[in-house]
Amino acid sequence: MAATGAQLKLAHVLPLGSRVDARGHLEVGGCDTVELAREFGTPAYVYAEDDLRARARTYVDAMRVRHDDFDVLFASKAFPCTAAYRLFAAEGIACDVASGGELALALRGGFDPARIYLHGNAKSLGELEEAIDAGVGHVVLDSFDDIDRLERVAGERGVKQAVLIRVTPGVAGRTHAAISTGQADSKFGFGLDDARVAIERTRACEHLDLQGLHMHIGSQLLSLDAYRPAVEAIATLGEFPVYNLGGGLGAAYTAEQQPPSIEDYVQVQVDAANELLGPGRKLLIEPGRSLVANACVTLYTVQTVKRNVSTWVGVDGGMSDNLRPMLYGSAYEALLADRADKAGRGELCHVAGKHCESGDVIVRGVPLDDPKPGDVVVTPATGAYGHAMANNYNGIPRPPVIFCKDGDARVVVRRETYEDLAARDVL
Ligand code: LLP
Repeated sequence: MAATGAQLKLAHVLPLGSRVDARGHLEVGGCDTVELAREFGTPAYVYAEDDLRARARTYVDAMRVRHDDFDVLFASKAFPCTAAYRLFAAEGIACDVASGGELALALRGGFDPARIYLHGNAKSLGELEEAIDAGVGHVVLDSFDDIDRLERVAGERGVKQAVLIRVTPGVAGRTHAAISTGQADSKFGFGLDDARVAIERTRACEHLDLQGLHMHIGSQLLSLDAYRPAVEAIATLGEFPVYNLGGGLGAAYTAEQQPPSIEDYVQVQVDAANELLGPGRKLLIEPGRSLVANACVTLYTVQTVKRNVSTWVGVDGGMSDNLRPMLYGSAYEALLADRADKAGRGELCHVAGKHCESGDVIVRGVPLDDPKPGDVVVTPATGAYGHAMANNYNGIPRPPVIFCKDGDARVVVRRETYEDLAARDVL
């Protein structure tokens, strides 16, 4: 069926390979989303597996043609799910973990510990011990306490641990304040002056092998302007063999958003590094969102349609499966799974969650074609920090994660049950 203008407008927000079939149903990974909702229930996170793989390959290829010595790291906080770790490990990329829990999942997913990087602004002693015992390739040092503690732990175990030092370059990417990290007044990393002290202190440590610097200036960046000044700032700290330039490339959540391409992002990072950090460096980048956000749609079922000042389409999920609109005011698109050919047309609606808060609104002011109870609502671009930040507010079991490929769907995380809700009770 010929795509309408509205569908084309949404194409870059939906998973790669999505299409509208002859009946007007949205297909993701070759699977009919109406049938997926029927088979697996709602809410459900539906990923197109090929999309995840394609984006990983695009990152690797973009780096390969521009730089000799590099690694692409999956910033796994965006989608910490065993199947995703497994998929990206199989794609041959490396991994960034932000806690002992993510480390455990990454190991379970098959990542070579040597290619895992442990982050964290407040790592515990236990997490540092777990990292060293697992043989994690690099620990990213974030504070003076981190340096002292890791030196002690590595010393006790008689190992020399490779480390990077996280620097906040004093350059903030333009994004929501909660996810901006490059500014000097940040809980993350060392400011430039402290970084000089941290570098000296780390070099004096017998059990730490300082290989380089790390920066991450923020997330959901829709402009690449801030990267070069940030690289310029860390270039003042001396020369190192390894530089990790972080993640942060934004995703398209709405039809209007046009983030830079992966190639453009890589080009800016590599150019800045080659010109300002010197030739022959090992360059690391660690995308999270831009690897996974657009690979997924969430399916909901409409429970009620209420018309007062506005039209409220009440669905069976909300802030337990997607906290982003409530935390960051993030905008999303919505369409009806069986009228995808009519996306972008109809009455302006608010898609409201089922939680006991007025702020539990997933999408505001989106046109839907005569929504009714039983309709399946699709919100695209929920693949990053959706499953990751899901919670059980109001006793709602967390949704399953479904991977779709070539028309086959498989559950990679099952839906929670009421028993799960009480599984940790000690009575
Ligand atoms: N590296 C470090 C050190 C990070 O802190 C982050 C994200 C990344 C890489 C990956 O950034 P990305 O490529 O995904 O932008 N919950 C928020 C996002 C928090 C980002 C935290 N750090 C959200 O839903 O927007």
